[in-house]
Amino acid sequence: MAHSNLKDAKSTKNDEFYTQYEDIQREINAYLEYNPDVFKGKTVLLPCDDPEWSNFTKFFAQNFENFGLKKLISTSYATESKKIKFQQLSFFEENSPQFDETKTNTHGKIFTLTRDSNKSGSIDIDDLEWHYLEGDGDFRSEEVIQLRNEADIIVTNPPFSLFREFLAWIIEADKKFIIIGNMNAITYKEVFPLIRENKIWLGNGFSGGNAYFRPIGENFANYANGVYDDKTGLVKFRNCCWFTNFEHGRRHQPLSLMTADDNIKFSKHKEIRNMGYCEYDNYNAIEVPYTDAIPSDFDGIMGVPISFLDKYCPEQFEIIELSRYLQDGQGMSQQFVDDYYAQGNTGQISAGHPDLCYYDKTGKAVVPYMRILIKPKGATK
Ligand SMILES: C[S@@+](CC[C@H](N)C(=O)[O-])C[C@H]1O[C@@H](n2cnc3c(N)ncnc32)[C@H](O)[C@@H]1O
Repeated sequence: MAHSNLKDAKSTKNDEFYTQYEDIQREINAYLEYNPDVFKGKTVLLPCDDPEWSNFTKFFAQNFENFGLKKLISTSYATESKKIKFQQLSFFEENSPQFDETKTNTHGKIFTLTRDSNKSGSIDIDDLEWHYLEGDGDFRSEEVIQLRNEADIIVTNPPFSLFREFLAWIIEADKKFIIIGNMNAITYKEVFPLIRENKIWLGNGFSGGNAYFRPIGENFANYANGVYDDKTGLVKFRNCCWFTNFEHGRRHQPLSLMTADDNIKFSKHKEIRNMGYCEYDNYNAIEVPYTDAIPSDFDGIMGVPISFLDKYCPEQFEIIELSRYLQDGQGMSQQFVDDYYAQGNTGQISAGHPDLCYYDKTGKAVVPYMRILIKPKGATK
């Protein structure tokens, strides 16, 4: 099977995708721009990060003094426990008196940075001190849970196959975080309510929406055309984003939008230009198939693609619901459709379809891919 995105990577259970240094730097800079003291005096935990492979550890260790960190903790996962095995003997381990042949494959490691341990005059990556963990370094293990509890901030690109669990692990401890995930995680029943309540949101984002990762230990021929580049050794995923509960500037920049009339005259989208907006047949809202086609002067509820969240400014819009959760957390049910007619409604309805539906201007029934229902802040309808 060819991978074309993160979801496919998840289905083959490969978790070995390593994040680019520039992407980490660009993202973290967005939080520092908003609040230069965001890391000052804080303990940062990187719970899926071996310094040999992880640019998260390199980046935070190199910036330890710049950021005014109190402590950096980075833990790694044992080779034997990984879904895709690859030789992980690291520079730190190989050259250390602590190296233990009986533990190297089965134990996780913990790397901490608090001081200028090599007396070089500055605190940097060479000052990392390490030892083997008791267990394999699973973030769910008691010893890593203790580290989570000690930390103020958790930052990483977690295993793709365990994203849901990983986010829950952060939320249950009420920690600040910056993590990478699949855009579709927005739609998880554990995640969407947090987004709607403005408890978590999307981060600043990958440049141009393209996330490049270094895959390790895989058969790269499995990737769809254009995903793996054998010149760079990187895979490109379009459906990746950062999730966080730290403020950043882009989140507060309102979208610049045209009025409904101007969209109908000038929109670059053929579904809107000279056509106008369709109303859902089974919900009191209009269908807006593109974020840039949101009309600036509509005072009610609109269904927009989930990618809207990348442009969501909480001062401009309010999130009402995700279409799939409109009824009973299951989407629009047959019961809804039955009630619709029982209440004397006579319009057409795509009977039984478990999601929003509308009839386009040619009369064709359309069920759009999942929509987020939003309304302008302070809307009266
Ligand atoms: C997507 S990779 C990212 C690695 C690194 N954080 C980065 O961004 O470059 C996820 C990492 O988590 C590790 N991992 C997988 N399952 C884990 C678990 N249960 N606990 C801790 N780490 C795990 C994988 O071996 C892999 O190294």
